[in-house]
Amino acid sequence: MKTTLYYFTGTGNSLWAARELARHIPETELVPMAKWIHDGDHIPAPEGRVGFVFPVSIGSPPLLVSAFAEKINLDAAEEIFALVTMGSCGDGAWKHLNRILKKRSYRMDAAYSVKTPTNYLLSGDVLPEDQEIAVISVARSDLDRIAEKITHGDNSFEKGPLLMNIRNSVLHPLLKNRLRSQGPRFRADDTCDGCGTCELVCPTYNITVSGMNRPEWGNACTFCFACINYCPRHAIQSGTKTAARNRYHHPDVSITDMMIQNGRE
Ligand SMILES: Cc1cc2nc3c(=O)[nH]c(=O)nc-3n(C[C@H](O)[C@H](O)[C@H](O)COP(=O)(O)O)c2cc1C
Ligand code: SF4
Ligand code: SF4
Repeated sequence: MKTTLYYFTGTGNSLWAARELARHIPETELVPMAKWIHDGDHIPAPEGRVGFVFPVSIGSPPLLVSAFAEKINLDAAEEIFALVTMGSCGDGAWKHLNRILKKRSYRMDAAYSVKTPTNYLLSGDVLPEDQEIAVISVARSDLDRIAEKITHGDNSFEKGPLLMNIRNSVLHPLLKNRLRSQGPRFRADDTCDGCGTCELVCPTYNITVSGMNRPEWGNACTFCFACINYCPRHAIQSGTKTAARNRYHHPDVSITDMMIQNGRE
């Protein structure tokens, strides 16, 4: 059966996870959700198996992923699954996607979460490099196992720890409202050299860099944290703590890969 994987990524984990699945699942095509949303084109209705691969963003899918799920025609899909990349718990994100699909009378058949290095610089520092490598290595084995299940039609909804889910169901609505109403309030400090990388990696075209000037942010953020993590000079800050924190993006996902996702290549 043909498989289409619709992916969205801020810092590469989800694209890498989609590539890992594609290595094991025959006849798999990767399609970037951000490009379709940006181009505003009619999305061809996929046949066969369909997977959504994306990060959890405060217990939900990123806004862009929800917008994509509201639009795509899945009438010809035979099987639908979600794979969420996460720092600690991804259940809220696939449950939210499931609700969107259910409302549209589609049935999700399976959902999985895979722990990957965190990119959420507002809640703490990224992992030290050796720990990042270790987490990616465990994630690779998890993805092998999940790909095996998907290939053999051994569908399941893999749930994270119950207590974590209870805690998140209380905490996340508060955090999400705050982030979405106030925005991440990014700014570039005086180490910015106007290179324009942040503009290129932004999947919602929310950043403008004119000439050698510092970037300006608009109001279309999907809170993916690509800009702050991919800036080569670590010049993007939010609040008072990010200047002292390191940055993360998946080592196998380049700026060019981000530009391809965003329809800039
Ligand atoms: C704004 C924001 C919110 C996040 N919220 C969560 C969360 O609720 N739970 C979690 O486990 N990880 C959370 N993370 C971590 C990411 O989901 C995780 O690092 C993911 O693998 C990033 O994938 P990507 O590289 O494909 O963008 C959050 C990250 C960001 C930037
Ligand atoms: S990526 Fe960083 S250095 Fe380059 S323009 Fe953006 S903020 Fe400035
Ligand atoms: S402004 Fe930054 S965090 Fe917001 S969508 Fe663009 S790259 Fe992602």
